[in-house]
Amino acid sequence: MMDMAKCVSLINMKGGVGKSTLAVNLAWQFTGLKKWNKRVLVIDLDPQFNASQYLIGVQKYQQILSNQIPTVWDVFEQMTRTPSKTSKQLNPKSVLYNVVSFPDGSRIDLIPSRLELAYSLRNPSQKEGLLAQLVSKIEDDYDLILLDCAPTESVLTTAAYLTSNFILVPVKPEYLSTIGLPLLVRSIDEFKAAPYGNNNLQLAGIVFNHASNYSPEEKISKTEVRRMAAKNKWYVFKSEVSYSRSYPKGAREGEPIFRTSYARWKQAFRFAAFADEFAGRIGL
Ligand SMILES: Nc1ncnc2c1ncn2[C@@H]1O[C@H](COP(=O)(O)OP(=O)(O)OP(=O)(O)O)[C@@H](O)[C@H]1O
Ligand SMILES: [Mg+2]
Repeated sequence: MMDMAKCVSLINMKGGVGKSTLAVNLAWQFTGLKKWNKRVLVIDLDPQFNASQYLIGVQKYQQILSNQIPTVWDVFEQMTRTPSKTSKQLNPKSVLYNVVSFPDGSRIDLIPSRLELAYSLRNPSQKEGLLAQLVSKIEDDYDLILLDCAPTESVLTTAAYLTSNFILVPVKPEYLSTIGLPLLVRSIDEFKAAPYGNNNLQLAGIVFNHASNYSPEEKISKTEVRRMAAKNKWYVFKSEVSYSRSYPKGAREGEPIFRTSYARWKQAFRFAAFADEFAGRIGL
């Protein structure tokens, strides 16, 4: 029997902590390398479409918009848009955009996002289950599904929770990034307890991103997070993702950390160590 896809949401209500950066680099890490060769799907659940642009670059992303290629917006609006089409069910395969395929069968697919997804939030009723429904039809084609979430709680967060087995929480080790952590974990717990909840949802762990081991502030924040984590039995990844200018540069170039034009092998190596630990945590 084939293993089921591991479905992981990258969530933190705090913005700019590295959710999109980690989602995209993890996708690259597990494909095209002899060691892993996984089939990965990235679902961009942020109306700001950072992960989409990061994965395929600005030009190709523009083509998605101008050619009306289906996006995650179509998933959430499949019941509401263009009345003439409501009788026709959305074909799950039509929202899958192939980013890269390797001869060994590993690949990255993307369900892109677009700004209009923000409209879906205005009328969120009955939409939270649509993504899980769609994913259940395609998950056999993947080993790993990564959901890049927006920094605010909405129907999209609920949809992500309903679709996922695991939550990965990137944390920037500075004061303002750590105070929201208990709130986030409470929101996950409340969700699990809710009647429509998903009891299989587990916290894969908290990973420090932007780590430099340089400032005292960073040290204090990490200590605080570790203390909270120990008290609540949250896992904190031993590997950290270091601060590196290669990440924003990669975002601009549409390249993963290990292929940016000046990525230092040390940074790439560190990220690979985190990917290994992450794979172990979710049983990839
Ligand atoms: N390890 C890192 N080193 C240096 N820069 C980083 C690192 N991780 C992320 N960045 C940069 O920090 C910024 C925020 O990262 P990113 O967009 O991944 O965060 P996010 O949590 O997805 O944000 P949002 O909440 O807006 O979705 C980006 O410019 C990104 O390139
Ligand atoms: Mg993001």
